[in-house]
Amino acid sequence: MTADWKQVEEALKDIEVVGHDNNKPVSVIGLSEELRCIGIGTDAAVFYHPNTPNYAYKVYSPQSIEKKEVEAGIYKRLEGSPYFPHCYGTGPNYLVLSFEQGITLYDCLLHGIPVSEQVMQDVEDAREFVRGLGLNPRDIHLKNVLLQEGRGKVLDVSEYIKEGNDSRWEHLVWTYNHFYPLISGVQVPLWILETITNWYNRIDSASFGIEDFSKRVSQLFFGKRN
Ligand SMILES: Nc1ncnc2c1ncn2[C@@H]1O[C@H](COP(=O)(O)OP(=O)(O)O)[C@@H](O)[C@H]1O
Ligand SMILES: [Mg+2]
Repeated sequence: MTADWKQVEEALKDIEVVGHDNNKPVSVIGLSEELRCIGIGTDAAVFYHPNTPNYAYKVYSPQSIEKKEVEAGIYKRLEGSPYFPHCYGTGPNYLVLSFEQGITLYDCLLHGIPVSEQVMQDVEDAREFVRGLGLNPRDIHLKNVLLQEGRGKVLDVSEYIKEGNDSRWEHLVWTYNHFYPLISGVQVPLWILETITNWYNRIDSASFGIEDFSKRVSQLFFGKRN
């Protein structure tokens, strides 16, 4: 039997995803009448097709195509966990994932939607689960976590076979505990979020301290607090 998502492969052929250097988001070239882009990352763009509403199609750029099979393999190991999407299969340049409702934590900051401690705990539990499988939960940042009916869902598992701690989630936890109460519910302007992101990405990780970083960001954008 042919999987029902196979019918979307023709439409996906009209789309080209192009990667860029320096951690920049991919570009999407081409159009397909029914495909809707629901997310952009640095390796891939993610699409939705109304005929198959339960699926999300993660289409990789040629520059990142080797991550497709890696990510599919990791999803296989994560199978059955409620903290992650389900992977149904693969096409030539895409993964077929469960379509996940909700918005990223990045969009929560943008729109002033409060992120509860439950969401933070869900990500912690997801990370524990990943470690239990002998994998390394890396690359967990604001655009890779969804707020879904008050719970957290973790996207983008492609780096879990890499070594080392990128500390991204630990930095977010620190900031959540020390700084987030001051801005919870506040709509943070896009230019501020993007400036902080760029600044963070350019920092030299060897001498990086999140406390210092947060202080500088806080003072620059939100003023001195006594
Ligand atoms: N299964 C999904 N359901 C709904 N949206 C998704 C899904 N997977 C990814 N997205 C959206 O697409 C964006 C990019 O996907 P991601 O897997 O993070 O790509 P990359 O590996 O290039 O970073 C995410 O930030 C999210 O907004
Ligand atoms: Mg991502």
